[in-house]
Amino acid sequence: MTGIRIHPESTPEQSDISQGHAGSYHGGMSAQPPLRIDRQRLLDRLAELSAVGGIEGTTGSSRLAFTDADRAGRGLVVTWMRDLGLEVSIDAIGNVVAVRPGTEDLPPVMTGSHIDTVRTGGRYDGNLGVLAGLEVVETLAAADITTRHPLAVAFFSNEEGARFAPDMMGSLVYVGGMGVEEAHDTVGIDGVTAGSELERIGYLGSMPCPGPAPHAFVELHIEQGPVLEEAGVQIGVVEGVQGISWTEITIEGQSNHAGTTPMRLRHDAGLVAAEITTWVRRLANEIGHPQVATVGAIDLHPNLVNVVAATAVLTVDLRNTDEATLQQAEQALRIELDRFAKAEGVRISTRSLARFEPVDFSPTVADLIDQTATDFGLSTMRMPSGAGHDAQMLARVCPTAMIFTPSRDGISHNPAEHTDPDDLEAGANVLLQVLRDLADGAAV
Ligand code: GLV
Ligand code: MN
Ligand code: MN
Repeated sequence: MTGIRIHPESTPEQSDISQGHAGSYHGGMSAQPPLRIDRQRLLDRLAELSAVGGIEGTTGSSRLAFTDADRAGRGLVVTWMRDLGLEVSIDAIGNVVAVRPGTEDLPPVMTGSHIDTVRTGGRYDGNLGVLAGLEVVETLAAADITTRHPLAVAFFSNEEGARFAPDMMGSLVYVGGMGVEEAHDTVGIDGVTAGSELERIGYLGSMPCPGPAPHAFVELHIEQGPVLEEAGVQIGVVEGVQGISWTEITIEGQSNHAGTTPMRLRHDAGLVAAEITTWVRRLANEIGHPQVATVGAIDLHPNLVNVVAATAVLTVDLRNTDEATLQQAEQALRIELDRFAKAEGVRISTRSLARFEPVDFSPTVADLIDQTATDFGLSTMRMPSGAGHDAQMLARVCPTAMIFTPSRDGISHNPAEHTDPDDLEAGANVLLQVLRDLADGAAV
């Protein structure tokens, strides 16, 4: 890593921050020396939350949305919110919003992310954004500073979409992009509905959806890819999120005896699932960067050694920053499915699980992040996000942008996910100053 570090042990008077980078610190709206979050407190909370649903022998967690582990993680974070004296509300899709009042009765500046994880989740994905938000609040409280706008720290339900599609479900419902009933009726990979599970874990809240639009939204998140680390840059200034297309494909063939059925008589759903899997890799290679394509789940039935598979259900995840190219990839998939079905004599049907167009964030908020990080002596890079985020939904209703911190070896959705504590701290300090400036009236 290159660039100037924020040294937690130095006082504001001694630090690179208050001296300004080449004397250029813009001072924000508050025109006061910047505050710093408590690095150890942030690391301790990240560790404590990761132990909830912790995956043995790793630093990662398994808290699929609306499971018992999700409930336990929620309980811990809500306790921290209440301990900070925040006013906590829960809405009809289980989003939790904690508010610290401002000096004026204005719409809040909001930060946050999610605390659900994929089944093999890391310690930082989502959790960093929520717990850094609590750090911001606690740091301001300790300094006895009240911002003009209230500050809100939120965690949105089911961001991952790994159990109930689509991803970003809670924030999508929050901004009115999906009805609450439709979200509740979503059937998960284990056959139960999101609404029944939400009720079971005690998070079917009373606040109506859609929720009130914040004044602005800023989300801190780990990059989850290799770009910042490879470039040796500390802060990613996220200008938007690429488009996401998730399709569930069901292949119906014919189960038959693996020993007696001649190859010419087979209608093998397993074979077609494999062909689709290799084809999507070729598709991404042919389109080229930034197209990505993944078959992440395959379910075969009856899934036995000596039986030709009767059915296969698999998922295809296609993403691109360019909407037209993403549509071309989707069209190519449709044509190829038709070809595979005819060639093997199987029936193929599809169901869209998620479809989000690429999103552009607010250039004004992105500029503020960039300027703040630069003033802090941190190196920055403008970039799109490869992963989906709650911020892409909030961008529909208020000026929004994101701050990225590097991910070691670009690994995420894996318990080995790691971000250097210096980078976590730097990202949280940028978040603190940006939120403070926005809440004190920086232009959006
Ligand atoms: C959410 O993490 C996604 O990008 O799939
Ligand atoms: Mn995330
Ligand atoms: Mn994730």
